[in-house]
Amino acid sequence: MNKINEFENKIVLGDAIEILDKIDPGTIDIVLTDPPYFLDKMDDNWDHKVVSNTKNHYAIKSLPAGMKFDPEQGRRFYKWYFNVSKKINRVLKPGGFFFSFSSPRLYHRMASAIDDADFLIRDCFIWLYTQNQVKAMSLNHFIDKLSISKEDKAKLKQKLSGWKTPQIKSCFEPIVMAQKKYDGTFLHNVITHGVGLVNTNVRIGKNMFPSNVMAIEHFEELIDKYFLIDKPSKKEKGESNNHKTVKPLKICEYLLMLSGFSEDTIVLDPFIGSGTTAIAAKKLGFKYIGIDINKEYVEMAQKRLRAIKLNSLPFFGNQSSDLPLLGTLRMQP
Ligand SMILES: C[S@@+](CC[C@H](N)C(=O)[O-])C[C@H]1O[C@@H](n2cnc3c(N)ncnc32)[C@H](O)[C@@H]1O
Repeated sequence: MNKINEFENKIVLGDAIEILDKIDPGTIDIVLTDPPYFLDKMDDNWDHKVVSNTKNHYAIKSLPAGMKFDPEQGRRFYKWYFNVSKKINRVLKPGGFFFSFSSPRLYHRMASAIDDADFLIRDCFIWLYTQNQVKAMSLNHFIDKLSISKEDKAKLKQKLSGWKTPQIKSCFEPIVMAQKKYDGTFLHNVITHGVGLVNTNVRIGKNMFPSNVMAIEHFEELIDKYFLIDKPSKKEKGESNNHKTVKPLKICEYLLMLSGFSEDTIVLDPFIGSGTTAIAAKKLGFKYIGIDINKEYVEMAQKRLRAIKLNSLPFFGNQSSDLPLLGTLRMQP
């Protein structure tokens, strides 16, 4: 039996490092994933109970929330993700795409890990938003603990008024766009392997060419009009979904529509969480494989998948009807 059939349209419980080795080489069109970033408890030992019961997430326990910073975090992440990326490279078809959500502080580690695993880095998508917590802290609390006079404390506080720890407000999330090396020319690759180009018929905003910027909320008229992407609502996340890092379905659909060439497209997410990638794939008529190490998330993903109305249109599905739709461009080898 072809090993891939074992997993097709399934959410598999297990460690991605092990399950990836069980997927046949060169059988996946697109990997779209949001891996653990090695922040706090969210590493490759991500435990659902620990993560959901910890109110404040810190990288270094002895420091207050605003000052957490662990330089080793990026290095540990690189090492682990380089290994993951090599396994992803093996299962992708030539020219297959690898989209990976990241964070501004760890982007360089992620992009290098993917690059070093023999991918071509094609671009970087930016998801913009305005509402995020400010993490920079005033130093008043520490000044109070200094053994100096009250007057000197007051003077120092005044001098440092407005000066905070070096953390600017994070207002974007980068997404690595990488591609497995393609076979011969782009044309040869797409005819032979059915993947490797982007569908520029997918329009955003008012008929705009697909772009690498996506945004939620109001910025200013121009950006708002073209890149509006809401954070996932409670309804979108599904009943009792307490996953901490649910991604917007719209972003997943956009990336899959850009890169999925035909209805035979197989989308893999090795860190599927509550199932967003699989939901987007299913809504677009693609096949999916999801993996997660936590049983609670696997069950949540399965529950969300069952709740999809099969005829519900994808968010970006209202493209001009005289343009070729997904699947109709398929070529025979
Ligand atoms: C950032 S979350 C993904 C969230 C997802 N995008 C969503 O919308 O719900 C990362 C997921 O990776 C899972 N995970 C962590 N280590 C793993 C491993 N070694 N193998 C498979 N899954 C793992 C965690 O349980 C977590 O659900």
